[in-house]
Amino acid sequence: MVILVTGGAGFIGSHTCTELLEGGYEIVVLDNFVNSRPGTLGHIEEIARREFPFYAVDLLHEQALRRIFKERRIDAVIHFAGLKAVGESVRHPLWYFHNNITGTLNLCSIMAEFGCKRMVFSSSATVYGIDSNEPISEEATPRTPINPYGKTKLMIERILGDICVSDPEWSVVSLRYFNPAGAHTSGLIGEDPKGIPNNLLPYIAKVANGELEKLSVFGDDYDTPDGTGIRDYIHVVDLAKAHICALRYAFAHTGQDVINLGTGMGYSVFEIIAAFERASGKKIPYQVAPRRPGDLAVCYANPSKAKSVLGWSAERDLDAMCFDIWHYTQRRG
Ligand code: NAD
Ligand code: UD1
Repeated sequence: MVILVTGGAGFIGSHTCTELLEGGYEIVVLDNFVNSRPGTLGHIEEIARREFPFYAVDLLHEQALRRIFKERRIDAVIHFAGLKAVGESVRHPLWYFHNNITGTLNLCSIMAEFGCKRMVFSSSATVYGIDSNEPISEEATPRTPINPYGKTKLMIERILGDICVSDPEWSVVSLRYFNPAGAHTSGLIGEDPKGIPNNLLPYIAKVANGELEKLSVFGDDYDTPDGTGIRDYIHVVDLAKAHICALRYAFAHTGQDVINLGTGMGYSVFEIIAAFERASGKKIPYQVAPRRPGDLAVCYANPSKAKSVLGWSAERDLDAMCFDIWHYTQRRG
């Protein structure tokens, strides 16, 4: 079975490629490196001890994309490629809408042209936009996200839903990730964002490594036990394994399914700092700063649908996540 992985050089894509290769799948990888590095491809091959074809193609370039489908018989697509920085999306909405939505439309049109009608799509818990002390389940009605990045995810889910309605042969599994974090245990692949990280754990890792001076904790006056924001951090290797389960499901069903990927456990910013200090043996200097606009107090998953439908649940805990990030950070120098 041949799986096209768009955005396969990225953080979650690279870990999923590794799992696919180790699971015996043939993969074809596409990326334009807008937010990743070519060296990651070699690391994937090193971990899995297998080689794979790679195309340096932008989803916006229809002809180049079509060439992949002409040259390879693709059975299904795992679609990671997209821009993902919330603040950047507010500053450059046209770029985000064009890249994420037009890119997906091109991909779906060409998939349909070649009779390839199975997709696993990277959505996000950001589509819920719900602040709740209860775990969030898939039945919750998404609110229109406040930023262009979130809007692209919700729009793409709806576009994929309409495609499935129009043609009952299509099968789409949209996975709503909570907060992906961690790195591969080899220390060869992980998250190394270009520029200053937006997300908490990559930022903390750079503070621990002496690349950034101190963390700003965005608000300690939320209605939570220690006043800081609570999130559901999920290990990227668990997340990658969920994609294999979702792929199997996509081959056995049709229509669109939307599934949360989280652990069901929430941790506060202060708990994350303490866990990273334990894992790294480093002190994480921080200052309390004003709340970040658009942030929720609490957001964590009800992961029961993933368990019942995909037979998947997260296995790695917060300490493993922090340990693997620290190992990766030290290896990359
Ligand atoms: P990432 O930026 O590391 O990976 C995305 C990859 O897509 C990058 O390698 C980038 O170069 C590539 N890409 C972007 N636009 C492209 C285009 N037009 N053509 C070809 N390649 C392109 O991000 P990630 O963390 O691995 O996220 C993967 C997916 O999961 C994204 O769609 C993201 O929005 C979604 N997601 C991520 C998170 C998270 O916190 N990491 C949370 C929820 C959802
Ligand atoms: C952010 C995005 C969300 C996206 C998700 C992907 C925003 C507003 N939301 O969510 O759309 O789907 O990433 O993982 O950007 N924090 C600090 N200091 C920092 C960074 C973060 O205190 O330097 C806090 C935040 O306030 C939050 C927690 O850490 O309470 C997690 O933040 P982050 O990693 O950015 O994830 P989300 O806010 O969940």
